[in-house]
Amino acid sequence: MFSKAYSAAIHGIDGLIVSVEADVSDGLPIFDMVGYLGSEVKEARERVRIALKNSGYKLPAKRITVNLSPADIRKEGTAFDLPVAISILMAFGHLPEDNLKGVLIIGELSLNGNVNKVNGVLPIVNAAKQNGFLKCIVPKENAKEGAVVKGIETYGVATLSEAVALLNGSGGISAEYVDINSLFRSIDISNGIDFSEVAGQKATKRAIEIAVSGMHNLLMIGPPGAGKTMLAKRIPTIMPELTFEESLEISKIYSIAGFMGNQALITKRPFRSPHHTITTTALVGGGRNPKPGEISLAHLGVLFLDELPEFQKETIEVLRQPLEDRLVTIARLNGSYRYPADFMLVAAMNPCSCGYYPDRNRCNCSLPSVKRYLNRISQPLLDRFDICIEALPMVYKELQVEDKQETSEEIRTRVSLARQIQLERYRGQNFFFNSGLTPRTIKKYCMLDMKEQSLLEEAFIKMNLSARAYHRILKVARTIADLDQSEKIKSKHISEAICYRSIDQKYWGE
Ligand SMILES: Nc1ncnc2c1ncn2[C@@H]1O[C@H](COP(=O)(O)OP(=O)(O)O)[C@@H](O)[C@H]1O
Ligand SMILES: [Mg+2]
Ligand SMILES: [Zn+2]
Repeated sequence: MFSKAYSAAIHGIDGLIVSVEADVSDGLPIFDMVGYLGSEVKEARERVRIALKNSGYKLPAKRITVNLSPADIRKEGTAFDLPVAISILMAFGHLPEDNLKGVLIIGELSLNGNVNKVNGVLPIVNAAKQNGFLKCIVPKENAKEGAVVKGIETYGVATLSEAVALLNGSGGISAEYVDINSLFRSIDISNGIDFSEVAGQKATKRAIEIAVSGMHNLLMIGPPGAGKTMLAKRIPTIMPELTFEESLEISKIYSIAGFMGNQALITKRPFRSPHHTITTTALVGGGRNPKPGEISLAHLGVLFLDELPEFQKETIEVLRQPLEDRLVTIARLNGSYRYPADFMLVAAMNPCSCGYYPDRNRCNCSLPSVKRYLNRISQPLLDRFDICIEALPMVYKELQVEDKQETSEEIRTRVSLARQIQLERYRGQNFFFNSGLTPRTIKKYCMLDMKEQSLLEEAFIKMNLSARAYHRILKVARTIADLDQSEKIKSKHISEAICYRSIDQKYWGE
């Protein structure tokens, strides 16, 4: 007897349909699995054999061959256990073939026949729908993730027997349902923190608002206790709420990484803050069983690198390419794949190892040691930060003032308006925000009048700016003008953008 079930593999962040064929024939009782399998898939044989036995199925002593195709994709992980078991049961006549039509199955099996959760259910159910499947059978713990995809039914099962009963039309399991609208209605964007809790820091807050509006990468430099970490954590609270499409895109990544928990969707902008001891693979993704890294988990949100110079130099240098491409390409023996990585990079650092340079009353680092510390950040990496801002500690008096601080919501309203202008301006382009402007598109979208032209030229000469710095000033000026609802970039916008440039000149300039 020959049978065929359907399952799926993950490639990058997409599901790919895999067929699971089982053949039963006379001969030595051997169980073989073929089809370019990773080691975990090879081990499925043992799990499936014992799970079948412990679920009460007695299989006659026959030769069983299971083939997973297409043969050119390497199959990894444990999600093929359940479809393999089902395919074998069908080959032995325990299930009518027709019952598997239009059904896609994934799930890991325990030896006792329980179905365990797996990674990547959301993109797999999505692929199933796109390929015309009508139903998906997934581990119960992953059912919500699958149910987010509308236009296909997702059933969660806890055991192999439940899956068989479901396929035989008994068992009383109904399709999982998720009310997406109510998920979005109940979001608390703030996470319990708010910008209004940060006293003073007017200039730093302004720089953050500009950075978020144009999706510019931001570097904060200043002594310990200045509030850098406190400010960074509040950045997602002034970003516009996620749309459903954005939420789906992020959730696919979290689903593959196995970070969905019991949630149906990720509905908040990610804020990822990896420790400086992180490995390159954990930061950018990859590995033997490929997984998205922190930069992809920060997709459409914030990647915060606190204490930037403490990171391994090689590790942060690897960020340069993804920052440019807004995705990461991972090369493997059998081809490469991509993970999205369109995030806002926010970094914070002290200016020297004691933290207090240039305050010579407190900092006793030698100038060469300050320089060495600062030079842990390479010029090319520094160039990726459109905005550099100095965060200075509050003086006692400022903390005393009981000024009412603006709430995150008030700031978010302005940010959203500025972003809307950009989304409309760049419709049809391959970027959305001012940070994505290239030297060529800058010419088109950042035209200056004579007066502004000469202001910039003067700064260019006086500050001995590089071409890169020149472009960055224009991009940031574009965002400042957008926040000002001004189509024209005016002198005041340019002057402010130049300020953000002069700070890294102060520390890294000659
Ligand atoms: N502007 C501020 N308003 C309110 N509290 C502040 C401010 N700046 C610093 N703090 C307090 O100081 C603590 C240390 O700030 P932190 O963000 O860790 O500084 P940094 O990261 O620059 O070393 C914060 O947790 C907060 O309690
Ligand atoms: Mg800090
Ligand atoms: Zn110092």
